[in-house]
Amino acid sequence: MCGIVGYIGFREAYPILIKGLRRLEYRGYDSAGVAIINNENQLSVYKAKGKVADLEEYSKDKDISGTIGIAHTRWATHGEPSNANAHPHYSQSENLALIHNGIIENYAVLKAELLKNGYTFQSSTDTEVLVQWIDYIYNIHKCDLFHAVQIALNQVVGAYAIAVIEKGNPDQIIAARKSSPLVVGVGENEYFLASDASPIIEYTNKVIYLDDEEIAVINRHEDPKIYTISNIKKTPEIKELEMNLSQLERGGYDHFMLKEIFEQPETLKNCMSGRVNIEGTNVTLSGIIDHKEKFINARRILIIACGTSWHAGLIGEYLFEEFCRIPVEVEYASEFRYRNPVICADDIVIAISQSGETADSLAAIELARKAGAFVYGVCNVVGSSIPRNTDSGSYTHCGPEIGVASTKAFTAQVTVLTMMALAIAKEKGTMPEENYLCTIKELQNIPSKIEKILSQNDKIKELSLIFTYAQNFIYLGRGYSYPVALEGALKLKEISYIHAEGYPAAEMKHGPIALIDNEMPIVAIATHNTIYEKVVSNIQEIKARNGRVIAIINEGDESIKELADHYIEIPETKECLDPLLSSIPLQLLAYHIAVNKNRDVDMPRNLAKSVTVE
Ligand code: AGP
Ligand code: GLU
Repeated sequence: MCGIVGYIGFREAYPILIKGLRRLEYRGYDSAGVAIINNENQLSVYKAKGKVADLEEYSKDKDISGTIGIAHTRWATHGEPSNANAHPHYSQSENLALIHNGIIENYAVLKAELLKNGYTFQSSTDTEVLVQWIDYIYNIHKCDLFHAVQIALNQVVGAYAIAVIEKGNPDQIIAARKSSPLVVGVGENEYFLASDASPIIEYTNKVIYLDDEEIAVINRHEDPKIYTISNIKKTPEIKELEMNLSQLERGGYDHFMLKEIFEQPETLKNCMSGRVNIEGTNVTLSGIIDHKEKFINARRILIIACGTSWHAGLIGEYLFEEFCRIPVEVEYASEFRYRNPVICADDIVIAISQSGETADSLAAIELARKAGAFVYGVCNVVGSSIPRNTDSGSYTHCGPEIGVASTKAFTAQVTVLTMMALAIAKEKGTMPEENYLCTIKELQNIPSKIEKILSQNDKIKELSLIFTYAQNFIYLGRGYSYPVALEGALKLKEISYIHAEGYPAAEMKHGPIALIDNEMPIVAIATHNTIYEKVVSNIQEIKARNGRVIAIINEGDESIKELADHYIEIPETKECLDPLLSSIPLQLLAYHIAVNKNRDVDMPRNLAKSVTVE
């Protein structure tokens, strides 16, 4: 959940570390810190509660010189956000400084042992226990830092990405990972370290992705060396990044979230590019072609994901069942992993994740693979852990998503799932040719239809002003629109902190209708579909109880215009593709309400972009 940055080379480290932290701030932002070794071999740690800007303010009159350093932006798991709990943490002797992403589960046992041996602690973190433990090993084994880290990590239970530097040793960073991401950037006579590639890309496009239980020894004048914690030497595999810098900038928008909402026509085109043929008559996904038989013979599809990706998975359920006639179950990864699920060898498990690093999803994948299922990843971040731990998969190719609230990743996930369902249906012969062709054709029309919705941004902004002070919201939808209602409610909750619930519209009368009064805004997705009339009846029921309805309707739907208090018109499309359109006004509505409330839209409180802890 946190951001890790490291640098060793010929330039001043501090500006690189700060810039890197800014790029990674979306991963965690309750406190930040930096450790630097200066030219006199002095190791200094500066840290501050708050954002990276607070750290900069704190360090502005300190000695920040030096060409080696590590830096961290935290998302607290053990101990409140505070100066003392911020990373880096010193060892007792102040010889070592360490940053850590993850959780050391057996920290209490290690801490008890350290206390017996005279160690004292400045913070409440599990991380300080780890650096002290490394220091303890270092002293009792009289070994070098690499071996001390290696021995210590063999005794640690939990998840970690760490980087350690040592006073008097300005030529070395030791880094390691297990279940938390870490990338080494390889430049000319300089090396970088980061939780993801975004801080690295402006210096080099060559990276090494560390695998679980690997330790990188990064020496100033040598190629990085990689060992496992059980001391097997690995040959580092250097990969080339395909990211560009402009993708990491706000590019004139007030927030990354708004930029990402507006990028969707483009990101969906990128997502379809090379997959839908030029004639628009066929969909090909190499990840499916390579394993055609598995998909044709699949007895069941299990979709595992968290949060927004789980909502995309629910839409996948409708798509796979309708197009491919394969039964589908959609599971929260966090529940699936702990409930001893029945998994069979002819099940296909689809794991959906923007970051590709979500701890619960990774654990669920491991469980499914152990049970012999074939696991397919739908991920956005290239080279992340999920694509590296699945049998096959498709990237969503929507570029880096920085805003904590997922928008463009969601629509790209739904697009990939649609293409998957089409490709499998074609192989299985479960979809009439005419339907197959017209779905592909309409899929290609989606980007321009999204443009049309985005052109109503000002109208949606105006509408948002009416609801800025609402205390609660209900979102309703049926069929394909039900997951969109859940996603709309999640967007609003995440960034405006207004309580919001999504429901299948027909469930209202089974309880939630008791909440309706003239204070309650209800967002109803009422586009033309097979159960349109029923949704209209659900809206009537709400109006009969004085609820305030904001309806998402198809252009020119005069009857709902009369019924609802407010409406947003979207273009008509095929029912199965409707989520790709109806989710857009909900993203904009949530965005504007949050801006009206002066919320930190890109970094909402308590959240982090990539949830690498359980
Ligand atoms: C989305 O707006 C959320 N911030 C969150 O629910 C997210 O979708 C979830 O944590 C899953 O992340 P992933 O897609 O990176 O696995
Ligand atoms: N568990 C550590 C802490 O609470 C690391 C958290 C993080 O990944 O930011 O400090």
